[in-house]
Formats: sequence, structure tokens, C-alpha cells
Amino acid sequence: MITLLPSTRSRFEPFEAGVSPKQDIRPLLQSLLVMAWMVEARDPYTGGHLWRVSQYSRLLVEALGLSKYEVARITLGGFLHDLGKIGVSDLILNKPGRLNDEECQAIQCHPETGARILVGHPLGSLVKSAILHHHERPDGAGYPFGLDEGNLPIDARIVSICDAFDAMTSARPYRRNMSLEDALKGIKLNLHTQFDGNFGHIFIDLGRSGRLNTILGHTDQGIPIQNCLTCGPTIVVTRNQKSGESIYCPNCHAEAVLEKTKKEIALRPTGRVGSAKPIQPKADLDLIGEFVATSAAALAVG
Ligand SMILES: [Fe+2]
Repeated sequence: MITLLPSTRSRFEPFEAGVSPKQDIRPLLQSLLVMAWMVEARDPYTGGHLWRVSQYSRLLVEALGLSKYEVARITLGGFLHDLGKIGVSDLILNKPGRLNDEECQAIQCHPETGARILVGHPLGSLVKSAILHHHERPDGAGYPFGLDEGNLPIDARIVSICDAFDAMTSARPYRRNMSLEDALKGIKLNLHTQFDGNFGHIFIDLGRSGRLNTILGHTDQGIPIQNCLTCGPTIVVTRNQKSGESIYCPNCHAEAVLEKTKKEIALRPTGRVGSAKPIQPKADLDLIGEFVATSAAALAVG
């Protein structure tokens, strides 16, 4: 049975602001998504993570048969869940290998930092649960508050599964990515401890039915993440980039020329390295614009 809990009141400042029913929330949504994109851009190995987590979350909420408002809210929460990583040092965020205790403590601050950024924001209440609680666990061993199963908001229970699945199936500098099946087994092994049992089972079914395949390893619909010859899968090609355009690895800044056909996307390395101006991060405003257009109306009626 699926239990739907209201967002829990945590030991955190409540979000007091909101939007009026007639207010156009699209500019607010757009600015939040651009901000999240720029935070993600600080870690060259996480390209597309926020988009994938948002899309896995959307599929899972849709499979649960929840309302359009809940689909839109939790999809947005999936995109914004790591906003607080803005407060984590690059040295820790990009450190290859294991983190020491002090570094772990620093990274474990990101849910509260993310929530703090949005205190007073008119849309803050929509995403507070996903941001603040996505590292909580049903067994109470998560952070920042060690909430137990009965107090875990639905947004956090969903985003937690999708976030962990994407981490497992994405390559890092120090490890290969897991296969879809191995990652699903990883979720199954940790049901009721790390992951919500009901939602985890439904997510595993989605994975085994092939429904996750257009998201896994992609950075947008129909656009797989691209390989840098030296760094591996780091390069995000946006939907508005055209054949002949120069693209740069966010890690080593190696340049490649985009070759795009209707069926395929490929990169041809040039052997050159980009300077500061061409390698600066740019949010994909087309992807974000579509996200805003599809979610604004549903969020406004919530
Ligand atoms: Fe996180």
C-alpha cells in the first residue's frame, strides 16, 4: 500500500512565501532551473544528472497514478534536489575517491544549504521536501535529520531512489558505471533500509520493462551523453547546438566539432583546448523552457 504523507515540518525554518493564484510562475521556475543547472556545471562528471533524476522521478510519479500537480512538483524537486551543492567546496565536490569524515560532514550540509537558499522564495514550498530530505532513509540512518519511514515525505522517497539510481549508472573518474540490471539489483537489496519499499519495487518494474532506457545515459530526450577521448562521458550536447559547432569537455576543455544528423550525434576531436570564454557554462534554455512550459500550469493549480 502506498502511503502519501504531507510534507513534514522539519526542524527547519518554514517557507512562508507563496504565489498568488493569478501569478505567472514561469519566470520564477525558469530562474530556479537555470540556477540548478549552473550548480551542476561545477562538477564536470555530473552532466545531465538533474535532468535524468527529474525524468526518472516523473516516470515513477506517473506510474503511481498521482495527480498532474504531484507529477509536476516532484519532477521539479528532482531537478532542484542538489541546489545546496553550491555551498560545497570544489575540492570536495570533485575529489576522486573516498571522502574523509570532515569532507563527508561538509557534503552532508547540502540539503540544508539548498533549503536555506529558498527560504522566502515564492516556489520554495514546492521543492522543500525533495531538497531537504532526499538523503533521508526509511531506516532512519539518513541525513540531515535521520527521519524514520513514517516521516519521510513522498517527494524525498521518490527523488532518493532516482538520485541513487543515476549515481550508480553514471561513470565517475574513479569507477565505471553500473549496468541497468546491476543498479536495479542494488536498489532491491536496499529496499526498506535505504529506499522506500513500495516505490522501489515500482521503479524496478519500470527499469525491467525498458521504460528508463531513453533517460539512462542521456542528457536530454534523444541525446546521449558524449565521450571526451581522455575524460570519458562528460560532454553534454544541447538540443539547440548544430553540426559544425565547437563543443568542449567540461573537465579537460578539449575541443571537438559536433556532427549531428537526424539519427546520430558524434564528436570529432580537433586536438585544441578551449579558452575561458568558450568553456563557460551555459544552461540549455530550450530544455529549461520546455520544462517550464509543461509544468507551470500543473503547478499553478496545486
Ligand atoms: Fe544530494
